[in-house]
Amino acid sequence: MQALRSLFMCLFFLFSLLRISAATALVTITPSGYIRDGDTLVSVGGSYELGFFSPVVWVANREIPLGDSSGLLKLTKQGVLVLLLNSSNSIVWSSNSSRIAGNPVSQLLDSGNLVVQDRKETNPDNFLWQSFDYPCDTFLPEMKLGWDVVTGLERYISSWKSTEDPAPGEFSVRIDYRGLPQLLLMKGAKIQARAGSWNGLYLTGLGYGYGVRQPNPISRSEFVMNKDEVYFDYRLWNMSMFSRFKKYRFFKPGQVVSGR
Ligand SMILES: *[C@@H]1O[C@H](CO)[C@@H](O)[C@H](O)[C@H]1NC(C)=O
Ligand SMILES: *[C@@H]1O[C@H](CO)[C@@H](O)[C@H](O)[C@H]1NC(C)=O
Ligand SMILES: *[C@@H]1O[C@H](CO)[C@@H](O)[C@H](O)[C@H]1NC(C)=O
Repeated sequence: MQALRSLFMCLFFLFSLLRISAATALVTITPSGYIRDGDTLVSVGGSYELGFFSPVVWVANREIPLGDSSGLLKLTKQGVLVLLLNSSNSIVWSSNSSRIAGNPVSQLLDSGNLVVQDRKETNPDNFLWQSFDYPCDTFLPEMKLGWDVVTGLERYISSWKSTEDPAPGEFSVRIDYRGLPQLLLMKGAKIQARAGSWNGLYLTGLGYGYGVRQPNPISRSEFVMNKDEVYFDYRLWNMSMFSRFKKYRFFKPGQVVSGR
């Protein structure tokens, strides 16, 4: 299935073993540039790389694999990322934004977040679009799992359909904020497990290690609840470590993989 896999636009960790001899490794995409199959977009500190390969933490075109290797990732003048098939000039996937940029640029941050920003924007966190708003099956440090209550955007992770197919599968991990916010494992519309609610210190169903109840030597997590947002996130104590939390078929919270 190598063929199918490589036809998805994928974000992967830059391990030395997975280093591929990319034709071009760019740091930004501007409206005059693009990356094509074989090229990659690399984060400034070199922690993450985006390209047409696997294994992955984020897939742009989860549901529509590219038909051949003529895929191009471009940024339009308005600041929309477009993944197109040059052979048929068809758009396979695109990002979107409610705002238009005067001078857009896209880059991959060292957190693994693929962002589109206006070059003139002085607030570095004011993104026009960010992949962290559309998680796939991997919950990375600095990602928010939960709700932007103002826009109604829900960020949740969902399993792949199968190991070969990144289309959304039936399992998801999401926040239900009606009543006391809870972290839920869902199978379709059914609740499979609850990680409990946030009692101000930790998730009652997870206990040790998932909050300040017992400081975790690798990461710390927090639950943020205010009038604009309700989310769960985690950070690593040591940024030179690597961690990811994946949605497996069975709920194994905190599958922490560390190393570099
Ligand atoms: C896209 O396809 C056209 C027509 O086949 C070709 O001339 C052009 O070089 C291709 N662009 C890229 C970036 O591969
Ligand atoms: C972006 O696309 C998503 C999914 O298609 C849609 O739900 C959302 O409303 C769009 N957002 C904007 C700002 O257009
Ligand atoms: C972070 O991890 C690196 C590599 O394991 C280690 O060399 C460094 O001392 C750690 N830093 C802190 C502040 O623990």
